[in-house]
Amino acid sequence: MLEVSGLAVDHGKLRAIWDVSFRVEEGARVGLLGANGAGKSTTLGAVIGLYPVAEGAILYGERSLVGASTPQNVDDGIALVPEGRRIFAEMTVRENLEMGAYTPGARKRVSEGLSRAFELFPVLDEKQADRAGTLSGGQQQMLAIGRALMSGPRLMLLDEPFLGVAPILVEEVMAALNRLADDGVTFLLVEQNIHRAFDFVQYAYVIENGRTVLDGARDELLGDPEFSNKFLGLD
Ligand SMILES: Nc1ncnc2c1ncn2[C@@H]1O[C@H](COP(=O)(O)OP(=O)(O)OP(=O)(O)O)[C@@H](O)[C@H]1O
Ligand SMILES: [Mg+2]
Repeated sequence: MLEVSGLAVDHGKLRAIWDVSFRVEEGARVGLLGANGAGKSTTLGAVIGLYPVAEGAILYGERSLVGASTPQNVDDGIALVPEGRRIFAEMTVRENLEMGAYTPGARKRVSEGLSRAFELFPVLDEKQADRAGTLSGGQQQMLAIGRALMSGPRLMLLDEPFLGVAPILVEEVMAALNRLADDGVTFLLVEQNIHRAFDFVQYAYVIENGRTVLDGARDELLGDPEFSNKFLGLD
């Protein structure tokens, strides 16, 4: 479904990632792991079209995403739940959700999107009219996921969705993601916390200093001394 090869991205004059390659098969849950500043968010941003590709290729199905705009990619079934959630605190929960339907394709299906988000996260329904800034961290994460659902994505890019979420709500967010996966949504999850990542993904790639350096299934990576030496200390 998604194949990234030799991806390099610059932030201004500085190269942020050098050589990132990975594959996500349709229906899979794949992790991108790595330390602070490794280039995880930059990679997701390049996939959805927020940052231009300096080198390399991004294939989504048969289509190259190099040069594609974010609205095009969203209408083509990709959604990003960004790092730090990026909720509009002064706007209501419902208005925040409606912001997720800003593309021409999604605008036609706002009520469908709202019922999907409300069904998955009933608290968003209850708090539709409340200012988003009054929600707890976990509820704001649900709102960020709900907003991404407004465009009816087939591939969801999640950037550290469990950060700042209370443990009890982590379970609830995880359960909602599992339901989406059961419905056929494909996931690419960025995480620093290896164990949490493997509660959700089956396979992961490790990014170090802007390069993918290792990949494998859960048990393969956890049993690999190179992996454990480098990354298990991060948690
Ligand atoms: N908007 C930006 N402008 C300039 N440099 C940036 C920008 N965003 C990221 N960088 C730099 O690019 C590199 C990769 O950052 P990125 O945010 O992709 O890493 P990350 O793996 O997501 O880190 P974290 O775990 O802290 O979120 C870092 O050196 C970072 O300082
Ligand atoms: Mg990041």
